[in-house]
Amino acid sequence: MVKICCIGAGYVGGPTMAVIAFKCPSVEVYVVDISVSRIAAWNSDRLPIYEPGLDEVVKQCRGRNLFFSSNVEQHVAEADIIFVSVNTPTKTRGLGAGKAADLTYWESAARMIADVSKSDKIVVEKSTVPVKTAEAIEKILTHNSKGINYQILSNPEFLAEGTAIEDLFKPDRVLIGGRETPEGRKAVQALKDVYAHWVPEDRIITTNLWSAELSKLAANAFLAQRISSVNAISALCEATGADVSEVAYAVGKDSRIGPKFLNASVGFGGSCFQKDILNLVYICECNGLPEVANYWRQVIKINDYQKSRFVNRVVASMFNTVAGKKIAVLGFAFKKDTGDTRETPAIDVCKGLLGDKAKISIYDPQVTEDQIQRDIAMSKFDWDHPVHLQPTSPTAVKQVSVAWDAYEATKGAHGVCILTEWNEFKELDYQKIYDNMQKPAFFFDGRNVVDPQKLREIGFIVYSIGKPLDAWLKDMPAVA
Ligand code: NAD
Ligand code: UDX
Repeated sequence: MVKICCIGAGYVGGPTMAVIAFKCPSVEVYVVDISVSRIAAWNSDRLPIYEPGLDEVVKQCRGRNLFFSSNVEQHVAEADIIFVSVNTPTKTRGLGAGKAADLTYWESAARMIADVSKSDKIVVEKSTVPVKTAEAIEKILTHNSKGINYQILSNPEFLAEGTAIEDLFKPDRVLIGGRETPEGRKAVQALKDVYAHWVPEDRIITTNLWSAELSKLAANAFLAQRISSVNAISALCEATGADVSEVAYAVGKDSRIGPKFLNASVGFGGSCFQKDILNLVYICECNGLPEVANYWRQVIKINDYQKSRFVNRVVASMFNTVAGKKIAVLGFAFKKDTGDTRETPAIDVCKGLLGDKAKISIYDPQVTEDQIQRDIAMSKFDWDHPVHLQPTSPTAVKQVSVAWDAYEATKGAHGVCILTEWNEFKELDYQKIYDNMQKPAFFFDGRNVVDPQKLREIGFIVYSIGKPLDAWLKDMPAVA
């Protein structure tokens, strides 16, 4: 029986290993983490992450061939294949701070593997890492050589949160990079055999190590670039009376462009896009390619511009001040169907509104009050360092309250901002919401989830990203 151990029981390690265990009953899978509380949650009825379909998969195999444990060293020592799926945040200090990937967690995992291993291992990079990381990992693993053979593979993960189980069940592709030596090819084949339990062979791509590492950064950069492109066009739509949904539809009909990932928004969020593009920018700079670095940096600049443009629009339309006014924020997660708030645009929007002294009432169906307060009080880039490794819990921000539902959040508010595209926001009784708000009642849809015309008929003054502006908004221009 093949034994797999995955270091890191997070958003990637947990679902990925659960699906491997589900699809490969003949493989024994151990998921380990230094966070005892996270492991306890994986072993409980309330999993540490919200992901549609995950509960069923975990319930089917937990205790059968899927195990969650904080006994990291024992399971690493016993495994044939070790996935490393620890976080690789942006460095906050020292060389490359604010751009380079912080490989502290990766390096400590690699050193531990070297210390405890007694047999040959295939070590798989599951985390997103800078290109050439495998070389550094190889050096760490073989430094105290005990005659053990290590094969390093790069097997980046392409799942998106909210659809992780679907993505893992039917991946567009599985990418495996390895050394072009007989031992390297053998290791690639061993990992291919695992995925071949459910992934068609033509969807398993094998490349050299550096291509696999770089493909992951490139794929995220391309995806984020599409969003920044459509968001840049959304600003021009507002200035000209074009409608971004119509433009995106017309553009996406070109089969060379395609319809997906062209939804204009308040900005992209999530733990990957910004971090991985900054990492790409840093790698380009280190390789003497400043023009390429600047090209990709612009994707992030447009994203920041989009978030501040939204805040400026809110403030400018409400007579240039939101001081003391209640603003309801509907949705805090970085996208629907997840409770994840890492790099959510809601953090920057809320901070922007707080900077203008607004009082904010937030409702999100999956994010806890504690998480919201922590996020708003946290400094930039601290979000991707595990909570259990952070020294203190920041104190709650007084002007922020968290509501149990959308009606409670909007009661008595001057304005409403939709920041996450949860399906339930399409179905709300907006007449009831309007009736309970201060007048004039403002509505700012950062995800284009509600029909602006219907809202206008109720009486709201409406701003929707990239849509033709109300006469009111035209009279209150926002300077970005
Ligand atoms: P995460 O923070 O949810 O999980 C990482 C886990 O690793 C944490 O629970 C942490 O306690 C644990 N850990 C850190 N150091 C450890 C060590 N030395 N030993 C044991 N456990 C350790 O992160 P994530 O979202 O799962 O992302 C993991 C990696 O996958 C990152 O490199 C990320 O860029 C990449 N990735 C993420 C996604 C996503 O959607 N979240 C998608 C594709 C790739
Ligand atoms: C992303 C990649 O899609 C995935 O392949 C990779 O493995 C990890 O990073 P994720 O961040 O989980 O996945 O979600 P994704 O669906 O890509 O959305 C990222 C952000 O972009 C969200 O804030 C989302 O709301 C936003 N988005 C997405 C848009 O604003 N418009 C779109 O058209 C699509």
